[in-house]
Amino acid sequence: MDWLKEFEEYKSKIGDRISIYSLVAKKYNVKRALYPGSHIDISPSMVIPEVTYVDNFKGAIKFFEDIRDIEKYVNRNKEYQEMCNIIFIGTDYNNELNINKVDIIISQYAGFVGQATKRYLKEDGILLCNDSHGDATLAYLDEDYILVGVIDQHNNISTKQLEKYFVLKNGRQIDENKVRSTMKGPKYEIQATNYIFKLKTQPD
Ligand SMILES: C[S@@+](CC[C@H](N)C(=O)[O-])C[C@H]1O[C@@H](n2cnc3c(N)ncnc32)[C@H](O)[C@@H]1O
Repeated sequence: MDWLKEFEEYKSKIGDRISIYSLVAKKYNVKRALYPGSHIDISPSMVIPEVTYVDNFKGAIKFFEDIRDIEKYVNRNKEYQEMCNIIFIGTDYNNELNINKVDIIISQYAGFVGQATKRYLKEDGILLCNDSHGDATLAYLDEDYILVGVIDQHNNISTKQLEKYFVLKNGRQIDENKVRSTMKGPKYEIQATNYIFKLKTQPD
């Protein structure tokens, strides 16, 4: 059970994210997720029945060698009825992943996930991301995505006054090239811990 100890330690370091994943999964009826750059954060599986985790770090690959035990643990602790389905792909998320389209992509501190894996998101699917590496900023600037909500400071989903986000001081414009080269989100007047984007429906 080394993986469980590792997960418990990791969870105490990053904080419990289950409540955020749960809120978003319920609001947007999420059943299938993709989590590129997941490392060993398996908490989405507690609230989402099918999650594909992708990470090319050897520590994550080793962790997921115990995937059957991880599934047993999740099945004992999950918050939904059906049995869990946990898939791990130990590769660079820029590679072809060969997966079904998902209801949500989770992007947390792992680069430009929302750009690299957008093609796996179904129409109207959700990108849940933070702006640590600038992924939320790139989604905001991307015409394929529309900002539909944020996780506010009380850990609730807020869908109101979204125009106050992604605003820089003194009316400055966002420098996309800088975000891409530094892999860092700009410091906005008002920041949210996480942003919720929807993939726009493509016209026929
Ligand atoms: C800082 S950790 C964040 C882990 C997790 N998302 C969290 O928030 O707890 C970044 C993870 O993303 C993974 N990662 C970064 N770029 C990646 C890529 N191109 N392909 C696969 N994994 C990647 C790293 O291996 C690492 O495990």
